[in-house]
Amino acid sequence: MKLSIPGRASATAVVAAATLLTGGSIAGAAPAPAAAAAAPDLPVANVKAHLAQLQSIATANGGNRAHGRAGYKASLDYVKAKLDAAGFTTTVQQFTSGGRTGYNLIADWPGGNTSQVVMAGSHLDSVTAGPGINDNGSGSAAVLETALAVARAGYQPTKHLRFAWWGAEELGMVGSRYYVNSLTTANRSKISGYLNFDMIGSPNPGYFVYDDDPTIEKTFKTYFTGIGVSTEIETEGDGRSDHAPFKSAGIPVGGLFSGADYIKTSAQAAKWGGTAGKAFDACYHSSCDTSSNINDTALDRNADALAYAVWQLSA
Ligand code: TRP
Ligand code: ZN
Repeated sequence: MKLSIPGRASATAVVAAATLLTGGSIAGAAPAPAAAAAAPDLPVANVKAHLAQLQSIATANGGNRAHGRAGYKASLDYVKAKLDAAGFTTTVQQFTSGGRTGYNLIADWPGGNTSQVVMAGSHLDSVTAGPGINDNGSGSAAVLETALAVARAGYQPTKHLRFAWWGAEELGMVGSRYYVNSLTTANRSKISGYLNFDMIGSPNPGYFVYDDDPTIEKTFKTYFTGIGVSTEIETEGDGRSDHAPFKSAGIPVGGLFSGADYIKTSAQAAKWGGTAGKAFDACYHSSCDTSSNINDTALDRNADALAYAVWQLSA
């Protein structure tokens, strides 16, 4: 099933038509359908504050936030406490992988049509080698801040919103696969789309959009076109993150990515800036993936694109 969402532009067109029919005055016209509420500009300082907390958690727990380690559970507790305080209904889903307990965190925003669920998610675990701030504190912090922005705005979309933080992605998308497999066929079919955010603040960034569900892809591209940033299709390993189990189950997917260990070309440096001949993230899966391993502009743009897509696709 494809997502089909009347955007703001078509709502504006309806207003314009009503204006024409009443000779330039909308007085007496039937009320126009409300335009989709505008997505907020997420404060990047808030996203960075979450990253600073995840860095502190890693530092206090042996330098990582990996599956089965104390730093993972502490990361989950941090995110969960923020969501609970904001009014989300949170669920911790436990699983076992490699003899260690793992956890997914699911947060439902009360309201909306629960037969049409729009999900946004990110993996919250790091590798054991380091704190995992770009991979994937960046996606986790931006999804968290989007959820908190939904609460701050009191946003009540037509569709139901669900946010997720996955465990054990670095062991082969274990948590997200466990979640998808645990859904009944009926509940699986209620998910209109899953948006994935894995590495969105790479220090030498590219702007990559997943080439999957056309409506989701178009929504992200519309955002980036609006801010004058060109994008490319994500090709650095299709299916290498938590959208893969959703896609395999027939759920429409999409997402954003700012690059891992592939090398930025000179053509890419010409359009995006940064350094040609260098990896998008030279600290990928290493101990130097710390809070200094983030490009603030990429983090800001991708977080705003995430919020934009969540608002648009759920309206
Ligand atoms: N999932 C990988 C990791 O966490 C990162 C990655 C590599 C990726 N290529 C990707 C994520 C393409 C999304 C899309 O280590
Ligand atoms: Zn990752």
